Amino acid sequence: MSDTPYYQRHIFFCLNERTNGENCCAHHGAQQAFERCKSLVKKQGLAGPGKVRVNKAGCLDRCAGGPIAVVYPEGTWYTYVDEADIDEIVESHLKNGQVVERLRTPPELGR
Ligand code: FES
Repeated sequence: MSDTPYYQRHIFFCLNERTNGENCCAHHGAQQAFERCKSLVKKQGLAGPGKVRVNKAGCLDRCAGGPIAVVYPEGTWYTYVDEADIDEIVESHLKNGQVVERLRTPPELGR
């Protein structure tokens, strides 16, 4: 069996929505960010086996740092704000393997 991972990088976006008034990523543009990331990855030919996969996720339990995305295999947590942040994550991390330091979720932020 090969140790080569099926995807080189895998990014998960929390799209969780709460209707009870509590904070959640869906109230901070998570769906739009997910869609932008997915379409950029596709447009740049980065999508597919051996390359990059963009997935939806439920609550990743770090809501205080939301909106949240996490990239594996590095296990890098991101707190993004706008489209430019998503573009930078795609270009720098998903494409070139360079973590975007300025967007890392502060380690103390959990739920
Ligand atoms: S609602 Fe997004 S991490 Fe919990």
